[in-house]
Amino acid sequence: MNSELTSLIEKAKAAPRALSVGELVQLLSVESADDRAALSAAGRELKLRQCGKGVAVRGLVEAGNVCAKDCLYCGIRKSNACVKRYRLSADEIVAGAAASKAMGYKSLVIQSGEIESEAHTRFIEEVLERIRPLDLGVTLSLGEQTEEVYARWRAAGATRYLLRIETSNPALYAKIHPSDCSWTRRVDCLRALRRTGYQVGTGVMCALPGQSVEDLARDIVFYGEMDVDMIGMGPFIPAENTPMGMANDGRGMTNEERLRLGLKMIAVTRLYLHDVNIAAATALQALQDDGRELGVLAGANVIMPNVTDVQYRRSYQLYANKPNLDENAAALRDRLDCRLSAIGEHILYDQLGDSRHFAART
Ligand code: 5AD
Repeated sequence: MNSELTSLIEKAKAAPRALSVGELVQLLSVESADDRAALSAAGRELKLRQCGKGVAVRGLVEAGNVCAKDCLYCGIRKSNACVKRYRLSADEIVAGAAASKAMGYKSLVIQSGEIESEAHTRFIEEVLERIRPLDLGVTLSLGEQTEEVYARWRAAGATRYLLRIETSNPALYAKIHPSDCSWTRRVDCLRALRRTGYQVGTGVMCALPGQSVEDLARDIVFYGEMDVDMIGMGPFIPAENTPMGMANDGRGMTNEERLRLGLKMIAVTRLYLHDVNIAAATALQALQDDGRELGVLAGANVIMPNVTDVQYRRSYQLYANKPNLDENAAALRDRLDCRLSAIGEHILYDQLGDSRHFAART
């Protein structure tokens, strides 16, 4: 490893937010196997220092794929007519939450396509009120809403919210979204979530066409500026029947390159922010079977195993090659258990796994 890389890593480890955009670019640009290993090892070391051994888990319920948005990269975009649309009933979501708890997952994520309506707001409120007695950490990932809606869901029992900014570069954002999507509104939503008292999570896709390494460095600075508590990010993977889904046509990056970039983003984000929760996204596993484990070895401390009933999994494919389409939640947990043991880690059963950054700032 070159001495310049060693000293950058030491500087990053010594204090959060210590690196400039240029220095972040340098870290994100490492290519040799040795340098990439050193970066991951440093991310992992900080993860262990900040979060200890163990991986926090959240059972993921994919509550529905009906979506009002037409994002150019996403498999469940509104105008993808090939998708069979579904919405789980309140009973089904509550059953998912109960099953998740029974498996030892103390936290739950409810994610769905984006819907803004009073009926939907009310529906989620009811679901949250019914889940409340289970005493779980509840994360919502339901897109852009008004501050009033965020507040209602917060009052009904949700404590965390994930809303990816997708990219911190407004010009790139405009290229991958239709014109009715606004980067500024996303930022406003993140601020509203913060005011409403949530643990706030955001993130980006890396490996986007037209994205520079400097964009990625600025994404990490954006996380710091927004002072977020949780990060969920992963490589863009072309999805079938989408404008950006030119899968397997030889253009763009290989899966290996996407994975490498995703792992570098995790390590450098850990090195820059230190105490946030960072998820090893399922997209990493779509690129390589042990992708999420590699994410943990680069500094991630959260995994979100799917607990959605298998009959719906195929209908919630944001990108190609989604893993675990047929395995039920218990089988997935047992396999995850084995895989984490193999890397000297384990599932943190019956623990909320709240963000340390949130605890420190409140
Ligand atoms: N590749 C990778 N991630 C995707 N997402 C949507 N489509 C894709 C894709 N093709 C991510 C977005 C969104 C999250 C729910 O899924 O970042 O915020």
